[in-house]
Amino acid sequence: MELKIGCIPGDGIGPEIVAETRRVLDAVAAKFGHVIHYTDILMGGASIDVHGVPLTQEAIAAAKAADAVLMGAIGGDASTSPWYQLPPNRRPEAGLLAIRKALNLFANLRPAILYAELKGACPLKEEISAAGFDMMIMRELTGGLYFGERKTTEANGIKTAVDTLVYNENEIRRIAVKGFEIAMKRHKKVTSVDKANVLDSSRLWRIVVEDVAKDYPEVTLEHMLVDNCAMQLVRDPAQFDVILTENMFGDILSDEASMVTGSIGMLASASLNDTKFGLYEPSHGSAPDIAGKDTANPIATVLSAAMMLRYSFDLDEEADAVEHAVKQVLKEGYRTLDIMSTGCVQVGCRQMGDLLAERI
Ligand code: IPM
Ligand code: MG
Repeated sequence: MELKIGCIPGDGIGPEIVAETRRVLDAVAAKFGHVIHYTDILMGGASIDVHGVPLTQEAIAAAKAADAVLMGAIGGDASTSPWYQLPPNRRPEAGLLAIRKALNLFANLRPAILYAELKGACPLKEEISAAGFDMMIMRELTGGLYFGERKTTEANGIKTAVDTLVYNENEIRRIAVKGFEIAMKRHKKVTSVDKANVLDSSRLWRIVVEDVAKDYPEVTLEHMLVDNCAMQLVRDPAQFDVILTENMFGDILSDEASMVTGSIGMLASASLNDTKFGLYEPSHGSAPDIAGKDTANPIATVLSAAMMLRYSFDLDEEADAVEHAVKQVLKEGYRTLDIMSTGCVQVGCRQMGDLLAERI
């Protein structure tokens, strides 16, 4: 098979983790007889440095021309990087929001898994972590507060800022359908998270989700208020299978869930539209403090590439091979700095890439 993959190395540790992931993908291609064509795409600070803007029309066109896009991370240190002297709509993060919108990537899948080998890294009490957990956060990614109208006005010397949380029923329906479809392939439970005791958008969310649920009688649906969900994630994370929620709540809860695993350097993500196209990136950020030091953990990006193989190319066996290689390397005791524990062997980003590629 021919795979056209757009690569957005981005900023900070992005280029290192993408380079190692490409080596793992190349090993997959060699083993399974595929041909990969990579196109490099500039986004974020890397694009600002060259073009003055975080995302160009050419970059969007290059992403659209690919079957799928693999991304590292974007952004720098907001207190020191000159990128953050620019107006908000020209900073690195604006590029990310713009590409999500331009490619209609409304479904963001963020798995949060407690790996057996890394249980020690979980910050929860052992009696809670003992059960393990494996949840999928399904975050709506192109609506809500992020894309509603916003403005700051001033009257009589008093400034007022407004952000608008808007959803129409079609936007809710399409993410709900994806959520239930994913739940069907997992443990058939959806927890829909909202703030229906306060927000109209959440009340509509509930009605639409209830309606979609009728098409999935095998799936158990429960509703949970977002504040309660934040609490339940640390009280009993094993209760969750699929968490279905709107953009802003998903942003916050997915960070919380990843922290609870104790190993954010391990967590992948996928942003999908209605076709097979997807943008795949680690859940973590660009970690500018360790950029270029060969200490970053490439595993989250490698696992994002596995999601790409599975969701965009339907290459399940290849995706399994990548996930298996990760488990194998962990079992053999190799760790990058972020997940290091006593008795293990510490390796850098490059060597982790070598180890993974060898085990494909
Ligand atoms: C994320 C990030 C982005 C978001 C930022 C960088 C705009 O936090 O992908 O979760 O809020 O969506
Ligand atoms: Mg976030």
